[in-house]
Amino acid sequence: MLSTTTFPSSPAPCYQPGYPSSSSLRNLDPLLPHSSTPLAPVRKFASSTPDITPLDRSTSSPTSTARTASYSVQKQNITVDPSHFKKIRLLGKGDVGSVYLVQNEETKQLYALKVLSKKEMVKRNKIKRVKVEQAILSMAHHPFIVPLHHSFQNKDYLFFCLEYCVGGEFFRALQQRPGKVLKEHEARFYAAEVVAALEYLHLHGLIYRDLKPENILLHQSGHLMLSDFDLSVQSPTIGNPTIVRSAFPSLFSHLPLLDTKICSNVRTNSFVGTQEYLAPEVIQGNGHSSTVDWWTLGILLYEMIYGFTPFNGANRNDTFDRIMTQKLDFPHFGSNPYFQGPEISHQGKSIMRKLLDKNENKRLGARAGASQVKQHAFFKPINFALLRHMRPPIMPAQKAKPIDAVHFAHVKESVSFDLHGSLTGDMDMDDDDNGGDSHDSDREDLVDPFADFGSVTLIRPKH
Ligand code: ADE
Repeated sequence: MLSTTTFPSSPAPCYQPGYPSSSSLRNLDPLLPHSSTPLAPVRKFASSTPDITPLDRSTSSPTSTARTASYSVQKQNITVDPSHFKKIRLLGKGDVGSVYLVQNEETKQLYALKVLSKKEMVKRNKIKRVKVEQAILSMAHHPFIVPLHHSFQNKDYLFFCLEYCVGGEFFRALQQRPGKVLKEHEARFYAAEVVAALEYLHLHGLIYRDLKPENILLHQSGHLMLSDFDLSVQSPTIGNPTIVRSAFPSLFSHLPLLDTKICSNVRTNSFVGTQEYLAPEVIQGNGHSSTVDWWTLGILLYEMIYGFTPFNGANRNDTFDRIMTQKLDFPHFGSNPYFQGPEISHQGKSIMRKLLDKNENKRLGARAGASQVKQHAFFKPINFALLRHMRPPIMPAQKAKPIDAVHFAHVKESVSFDLHGSLTGDMDMDDDDNGGDSHDSDREDLVDPFADFGSVTLIRPKH
């Protein structure tokens, strides 16, 4: 899903208690309640330049593998272009492009085609970010990460042809639940799938940095898939996982742990993420590491269970104040008329407390990464090895035709995008929230900044 990205003016703003927000930032304040916004609310921040060099996994051989053979994605130089697809409908819209449901004319296979305007990316200084996203998507091969099938470009646009997740946005699925909440065991299931996906990313030296319900899609199988990697960062050197022994052997942590934290050994300083999901160390601006992903998992778990995030304030600075200083509170379900089950378990509260430790060095996951998180008693009922074979709590209606997907916003296409020709008009890019470095797009025309955006076709096994 594309969500509108806002750019605070650089340098990256740091947390200043009580500091009044500037009017330009106040204008971007994304505090609309979820249900009242037709599209995903604007909750996202990105500093103007990514602190990452796009991974160079390109290859010139006709069929080759990305990274090493053991977790490979096969690439092919099959030429795919927009004319291979028939547009069915608009699925979502963001600040630099849109996502369309399309059908391959020949195979009749449905895909989600993310179409990004080069002009807008240059204007919003997102050139590197899109290359990072392409590199990650073409490397990743994991059941809970949205598969990329092809990427290609034409004169004006970049295209990501992604697996179509018929269940739509997890965010919308949540909105449609009574009370907008999940039962604890349901939240545990999705949290476990997120842990598995984050473990994979961390093992590859990546920090995701933008976990939130808007960036999670529901596959036809009901399993979730992480999408949107434009805020991710990769460690310049990927360490090998090591074995660590538990400092305090207990019932659940007597086994040695695989330390995956060491793989993404990067400390980065950019101010990115989504307001209500930002970790204290990101707000502080003194650098952050992969433990930010465990903080965001804590916020996600809380939002799935309680229907709102724990530190949301009246405005941006209020939210930041709360993230930095407010103790984590757990509401009583008696106040939610939709909740009829038992109170949240001791283990549920404990994992949220530990993931939402404001001290990144003490946070759950800080010592050994995902394996430490998996060992928390909250996940005792989960068999991580069999996760993808478990029945998910929300199943997209199987009788529905995939074309009539369920959890999608009704997005109106104001100007039509013609896959077979050029645009019939200009794409609707009317929000003007570019606080980042503005580029002179005429200058950019001289050198094509997307010349190295690789056209790839990936051979994917069927899910
Ligand atoms: N929105 C963004 N990406 C999508 C996908 N892969 N499937 C369905 N909707 C999407």
